[in-house]
Amino acid sequence: MNVKKAIIPAAGLGTRFLPATKSVPKEMLPVVDTPTLEYVVREATEAGIKDILIITGRQKTAIEDYFDKAYELEDILKKKGDTARLKRIQSIWKNINIHTVRQKEPKGLGHAILCGEAFVGNEPFAVLLGDDIVYNPKKPCLKQLIEVHDQYQASVLGVQTVKDAHVHKYGIIGGEKIAERLYSVKGMVEKPSLKEAPSNAAILGRYVLSPKIFAYLKDTLPGKGNEIQLTDALMALSQKEKMLAYDFEGKRYDVGDKLGFLEATVEFALRDQALSQDFKAYLKELMKTL
Ligand code: G1P
Repeated sequence: MNVKKAIIPAAGLGTRFLPATKSVPKEMLPVVDTPTLEYVVREATEAGIKDILIITGRQKTAIEDYFDKAYELEDILKKKGDTARLKRIQSIWKNINIHTVRQKEPKGLGHAILCGEAFVGNEPFAVLLGDDIVYNPKKPCLKQLIEVHDQYQASVLGVQTVKDAHVHKYGIIGGEKIAERLYSVKGMVEKPSLKEAPSNAAILGRYVLSPKIFAYLKDTLPGKGNEIQLTDALMALSQKEKMLAYDFEGKRYDVGDKLGFLEATVEFALRDQALSQDFKAYLKELMKTL
């Protein structure tokens, strides 16, 4: 079955980015001029997905407004003849169906995904976490995972190797290599200490999942941080069904972290045609003073 739907959880409080996130959802914080959430939505649409459910929460109405048509703004741009900006604004909502549902209680990532059960129904679906932006202009990360899913008809987790010092921040898999970049998942732990970690292969916010995950999520008890963890439900599912991990190609930015956010800002600005020349010159000058 083809993957046609995606869930993007965006209900978190964004405490790491306070005070900005007191009134702006963290998913709306821009890297250069584009909210981080739009990069993630774009990755899904570039992988052929048109129906996307965003799991929101209270104080997140800016997200719904962003993906809606803005009549007044579009009219002003049209009258001014600013076709480039008009096209850019319309690209946010054209050819894509954004659905939203609110997670009523902050019970964790696993609970947030469970809020998407009715939307998904009984088909495989993608999950993209907004704290991770992956840059790959040749083949979006999610497209790579969907291709593996289509070939093997199994759930696929997107992983990359992280440094020892970062293992405690992620879901870490244990696996057996079965092909180039591909592992059969043999276990996983949510945010382990280095000692407990089965490897350095971290799940980096991209998943293609079997709908059976919902049954496991319902049975999952609060785990790490007293939250219902997606990783725990995945672990249970992997014991019943084939589950794969794919070491995807692409530069991944942890925009949920201040340093990662700054790295993304600098690198995306350097890739921006209109900005790159002046920005590079500025950085070179700045480097001399550091
Ligand atoms: C979540 C997942 C974790 C995963 C990470 C990727 O953690 O629970 O397994 O490795 O996203 O960014 P969070 O960063 O939301 O605490």
